[in-house]
Amino acid sequence: MVKLGIIGCGYWGPNLVRNFNSIQDTEIIICADLDESRLSHIKSLYPKIKVTKDYKEILENDEIDAVIIATPIETHYKIAKDFLNANKHVLIEKPITASSKEALDLIKTAEKNKKVLMVDHTFEFSSPIEKIKEIIDKKELGKIFTIDMIRVNLGLFQEKVNVAWDLAPHDISMLIYYLNDIPLTVRAVGQSYIRDGIEDDAHINLEFKDKVMVNMHVSWLDPCKIRRTTIVGNKKMLVYDDTLNDEKIKIFDKGVTIHKANIPKQPYYDTYEQWALTYRSGDTYTPKIGNKEPLSVMANHFIDCIKNNKKPLTDGYSGLRVVKVLEAIQKSLKNDGKKIVLENDN
Ligand SMILES: NC(=O)c1ccc[n+]([C@@H]2O[C@H](COP(=O)([O-])OP(=O)(O)OC[C@H]3O[C@@H](n4cnc5c(N)ncnc54)[C@H](O)[C@@H]3O)[C@@H](O)[C@H]2O)c1
Repeated sequence: MVKLGIIGCGYWGPNLVRNFNSIQDTEIIICADLDESRLSHIKSLYPKIKVTKDYKEILENDEIDAVIIATPIETHYKIAKDFLNANKHVLIEKPITASSKEALDLIKTAEKNKKVLMVDHTFEFSSPIEKIKEIIDKKELGKIFTIDMIRVNLGLFQEKVNVAWDLAPHDISMLIYYLNDIPLTVRAVGQSYIRDGIEDDAHINLEFKDKVMVNMHVSWLDPCKIRRTTIVGNKKMLVYDDTLNDEKIKIFDKGVTIHKANIPKQPYYDTYEQWALTYRSGDTYTPKIGNKEPLSVMANHFIDCIKNNKKPLTDGYSGLRVVKVLEAIQKSLKNDGKKIVLENDN
């Protein structure tokens, strides 16, 4: 039996409580939140779970094997460090910490104390992302040219972090997973409209090796909820729309070939053969994908790592890589879109 404590029961925490509560041989013993009303909410849904306003009560509880931290980003480091030092396994919500220095320190502490440290990059546990990874790895799309990612809707406005730190961790973790690499450079422009100094809309450009170019738009200021990724390869193109209930992924056998030998000298063409480009528009198909709840897969993975001493798919280093990209985005945002070069040392 793995015995758990959950810290932070605001917007996201109850989803974690629901998923961990349904895992066999796992028991949520106690939940902590500073806000009494959030604890009453948990108690009304799960009368057997104890509640506390002070997470230190969980630190001192020898019965607890592991904790899940779903508090605001700026609090992750201190709480996680306390629990790792108290010899508990730790799962932290995305992004792992507010800085790469903090993430690295948590990794070292977990390694020293031989504890599992995992970050919830939820999408890495979702069936569509697993399918897209499979399609990319099989080279079905050919060589990847561009990736376009849009994650916009109205709200939820955050008080302490900008839209990049709130929404982009999802897309950054997916990108790193797809390409098995971190970007070489990052450029970002954004603007604050609702709260001074906190960007609510940002456009981010990331260059990977082999000329793979990624453009990302994250915003809390859009009337429509859009969650779309378009991947353009030299063989095929893929569109993933996460707002759809089914057929989330479509693969288009579309492309264009340039026949360099045919390029005419004059800027007009007399015959069909002189066209230098051939456009291809073949079939479109939808691959079959599973429909397991990603959070449930993630929760089961954390428990499996604890029970079987496994390295998590989204371990501390995975969290660190995402935070490094976020720091580069932040630097570029504050320097009017300056190109920031990333160091690939992890
Ligand atoms: N994986 C996902 O898809 C996903 C979705 C939403 C949020 N998140 C992440 O979850 C985390 C929480 O986000 P949220 O939207 O639920 O925030 P929230 O503000 O709604 O909830 C945070 C809760 O933590 C509590 N809290 C703060 N400090 C505490 C402390 N020291 N001890 C105990 N409780 C404390 C607050 O009272 C609040 O109830 C963030 O890291 C966020 O990025 C992840």
